[in-house]
Amino acid sequence: MNRRGFLAAGLASLGAACGLPQPKPETASPRVSLSDVKRLVAQRVDPIAGRCRYVADLGTRRLAQPILYARSGESFDALIENALPQPTTVHFHGLTLPQSQDGAGFDPIAPGASKRVRFQVQNRSGLYWFHPHPQGFTAEQVYAGLAGLLVVTDEEDQALDAALALAPPNRLALAIADARVEKGLIRPYAPSAADCVAGWIGNQALVNGKLDAGWTVAPGWVRLQILNACNARGLLLGFQDRDKDAGNLVPFHLLGTDGGLLATPRDLDRVFLHGGERVDIAIDVNGRRALHAVSLEFDARHHAQSAPAPHRHPARERYAPLAQESVCETSLPPEAKDLPSDGGELALFTLRVEGRGPDRAPALPARLSALSEASSPTDAPTRRIRLDFDERTGFAIDQAPYAIDETGFAVGRGAREIWEIKNSPISMPHPMHVHGFGFRVLRRQGTFGAARRLATEPGGRFPTDLGLKDTVLAWPNETLWLALDFALPPQAAFGGPQRYMFHCHNLEHEDAMMMRNITVT
Ligand code: C2O
Ligand code: CU
Ligand code: CU
Repeated sequence: MNRRGFLAAGLASLGAACGLPQPKPETASPRVSLSDVKRLVAQRVDPIAGRCRYVADLGTRRLAQPILYARSGESFDALIENALPQPTTVHFHGLTLPQSQDGAGFDPIAPGASKRVRFQVQNRSGLYWFHPHPQGFTAEQVYAGLAGLLVVTDEEDQALDAALALAPPNRLALAIADARVEKGLIRPYAPSAADCVAGWIGNQALVNGKLDAGWTVAPGWVRLQILNACNARGLLLGFQDRDKDAGNLVPFHLLGTDGGLLATPRDLDRVFLHGGERVDIAIDVNGRRALHAVSLEFDARHHAQSAPAPHRHPARERYAPLAQESVCETSLPPEAKDLPSDGGELALFTLRVEGRGPDRAPALPARLSALSEASSPTDAPTRRIRLDFDERTGFAIDQAPYAIDETGFAVGRGAREIWEIKNSPISMPHPMHVHGFGFRVLRRQGTFGAARRLATEPGGRFPTDLGLKDTVLAWPNETLWLALDFALPPQAAFGGPQRYMFHCHNLEHEDAMMMRNITVT
């Protein structure tokens, strides 16, 4: 069978196997209201390249790869269906959810099975996202295309759009991933043993699932909410106007981070965005014809590690990969010399400016939200956490092997803690993520190299550290201090002990169990 024939056969058998109606779901990142979703299906659409997608069933229509929108306080109540040949879950990254709805890897959905998930959005406005979280398969499934955006709005968010006089096409929610592309085709997930230590890096950007992505906007302010959905690549985001100041970067304003708007905007010309992190930015495109978003070259400070023995999650023994490729098993082929690397320059997407707009964009509001300054709670205990390399298993938290049923960090409901996270000097950048709770960054120490120059805020912090965060990068040699508040909402769903996860969002590290549980009692 040729490739097309095989693909068609695969699609037909997929449809038959899960009894889905055959009409093709509409595509192109449609907007869907969170509360309208009746079923959310994770399915494989291409067994050759292993590509997958989410399909939202609204009862009347089915939409592929939707962007979900919700007002703060809105509810979700849907059946999550696993039409993949592997276990999966849907984790809503950044949302405050009870353990039973969090979609962490504790309770995966078996192939062919489904699970009802319901919750209310407790969070502020901001860009959140959803992705699979089954132990051992997360990296492969996210790379395969299973990552969706959830835009949460509220009054502060709408007041900002009004103040910016934002034209509807000028507000965009973007997920940036990187893929290995050869001759225009996305290659299947096939990390070598070394890629499973350092992370799987692509050579081209996929923005909302598209290669060479571009959007047309009107003159005036453009508001971009951007997620780094890469498995392992860090981005240093900047914008170029190649008609004008070639080589110079176009200034923009940082409006918000993972968990919503900052108190006041920050003027920048570049910003780091690592796996799982989000930024909300405003950029004035008046008088420009096009802007090119790029990831600028930077020193990612990966230190050579002797690779540990090939290590895969034991759950992988029972299920085949999404494409017929090996995962974390092979050593690099000798011709693999110039593979893309973290910190290498990467073209991201283009904004074309068309039409007539205001002569001058309105002034940016000085105050964006009521977010308070990060402060260190008095008499909060400090928890010391070390990120290290373990010779047998790779990167680990506190040199301890992870067990899915471990208590991990035991914290009292409503307790406040300071977390001191120290990354070792001979290491890699690790984007560390906490489920269920946003946190504030208090201070950084030991940042070196090029990154140090961008740590322009008090306490050695980066501008993105000023916001509410759920994922934060620990550079090699750095120590960071975070303030966490383990208060949970009063609703019955949050009653009893609740277990969450703390892990590295480099997805190869996540699958290699650079992870710890947090048990709230
Ligand atoms: Cu975005 Cu535990 O994940
Ligand atoms: Cu998460
Ligand atoms: Cu890591």
